[in-house]
Amino acid sequence: MNICVTGTGYVGLVTGTCLAEVGHRVVCMDHDGNKIHTLNAGRMPIFEPHLEELVHRNREKGRLSFTTDFGLANRDAEVVFICVGTPPHENGEADLSAVEKVVREVASRSSSYRLVVEKSTVPVQTGEYVSRTLQIYSPGGQGLFDVASNPEFLREGSAVYDFFHPDRIVVGVDSPRAENILRGLYQPILEGKFSCPVHSSCPSSPPPTFLVTDVKSAELIKHASNSFLAMKISFINAVADLCEKVGADVEKVSRGMGLDARIGKDFLRAGLGFGGFCFPKDLQAFVRIAEKNGYDFSILREVEKINKGRIELALEKLKKELWILQGKTIGVLGLAFKPQTDDTRFAPALELIRRLQREGAKIRAYDPKAAQKTAEEIPDIFIAESPYQAAEGTEALVLATEWPEFRDLDWERIRRAMVHPFIFDGRNFLDSSQLRAAGFRYEGMGRPQ
Ligand code: UDX
Repeated sequence: MNICVTGTGYVGLVTGTCLAEVGHRVVCMDHDGNKIHTLNAGRMPIFEPHLEELVHRNREKGRLSFTTDFGLANRDAEVVFICVGTPPHENGEADLSAVEKVVREVASRSSSYRLVVEKSTVPVQTGEYVSRTLQIYSPGGQGLFDVASNPEFLREGSAVYDFFHPDRIVVGVDSPRAENILRGLYQPILEGKFSCPVHSSCPSSPPPTFLVTDVKSAELIKHASNSFLAMKISFINAVADLCEKVGADVEKVSRGMGLDARIGKDFLRAGLGFGGFCFPKDLQAFVRIAEKNGYDFSILREVEKINKGRIELALEKLKKELWILQGKTIGVLGLAFKPQTDDTRFAPALELIRRLQREGAKIRAYDPKAAQKTAEEIPDIFIAESPYQAAEGTEALVLATEWPEFRDLDWERIRRAMVHPFIFDGRNFLDSSQLRAAGFRYEGMGRPQ
C-alpha cells in the first residue's frame, strides 16, 4: 500500500518505518527541515532500540523515504497517517493546530480517495472536526475521504517491539471501506507474517486483537488507557507512602496485588512517579476534554496531584538525611524519564534536579543516553562520564532512572568516592541489604528502614 505519514516524531518515525518493514511503500513528511535532513543523511533524531537499522534497511529497499514536501508525500498515497505533535496548551488542553494544518493540506491537495487516519493522541470528537475541515477545504468535497482513528500504544524504549507485538490494534472507523483498508494494512502483523527485528525467533504469543469501533470510542480508548496506567502508578505510590507510615514494604505489597490477574503486575512499581511526553499531557488533556463536556474527572486530578508530590517527598528525604541542602553536592544516576530512551521530557529526575538547585545544592549527574539532552535543558550541572565520576565528593547519591547497568556497580568504589555514603533509591531498584552491608545508609520509597 502507498502510505503518507505526516510528522516524524516518535509515533510517526516508528509507525512509518515499521509499516515499510512489513512491505508498504511509505513516505514520511515533516515541515521540520532539520529532522528530514538528519534522516536523509542517515542519522537518527531519536534513540530507540532497533529503529536505526530498520530505517537504513527500508531506505535501501526504496520502501521508506523522507521529505518536507507534502505534495510529494501525498501524491500516490491511499492512506495518510496524522502523526504530528499535539503538545499541551498552558491550560492542559491539547494543541491541535498541527493536526488541523495537515488536514487542510490533505483536503486542498488530494484529487483522489484518501483514508485520513488519526494516530497522534487527540481528544475525543477530534475526528468530527477533521471530517468537517476536509469538507470545507476540499474542492472535491467530503466524498473523497474517510476519517479513522488508529491510536498508538507504543512505549519509548520498546517502540519497535510494541509495533510488531501489540496486545491490540484499535481502529475507529465509520465505513466498511476504511475498516478493510486498515485491516489489510495491518494484515502482516495480524497473521504474524514478518521477520521480527527484535527476536531471532519470536516467543509464541496469541495474535493481537483487531478491535473495530466507531471513531469516538477509539479516540477515548487512548486517553483512557494512558490515564488508567498513570492511575495505577499513582495508586501504588500512595500505598508506598502508607507503607512508610506503618513500616510495611511496598515491593511486597505490589507483588501481592499483582499476582491477582484482575490487577496485573505491570505498572505497579512505586518510585519518583511517571514522566515522559505521554502520561502527564494525556492526563491533563483527558481531564480538560471531560470538563469541556461537563464531567469533573476528579480521580484523575488526584492522580496528577500524587504524581507531583513524589518530587517534594524525595526532597524531604534528602533534607532528613542532609539537613541543609544549600552548598551540598548531590549525585544523580539516571536522567531520562525511563530506561532505554534518551528522552528527558517531563522526566522526574530533571524535576528533582531543578528543585535541588533551587535549594542551593550542586548536582553531578550521569545517564548512559540522556546526558546531552539534559545539558541542553539544565546548563549549570556537572555531567559525569560515569556513575563513579558522578559520585565523587557527593553527600548523597540519588537513583532516579532504573538503567540496568546501575545494578552492577562497584559499590565499594562508589562509597570511597562519596563524602557521606547515603543512597536514595528513587526507583526501589537496588538491593538495600547489599548496600547496607557495604556501609551505605539506604532510603527507598515505601520500603522499611
Ligand atoms: C506510555 C504508554 O505506556 C504507551 O502505551 C503510550 O503509547 C505512550 O505512553 P511511555 O511514555 O513511553 O509509554 O512510557 P511508560 O513505559 O508507559 O512509562 C511512563 C512513565 O511511568 C515512566 O516515567 C516510568 O518510569 C513510569 N512508571 C512506569 C512507573 O513509575 N512505574 C511503573 O510501574 C511503570
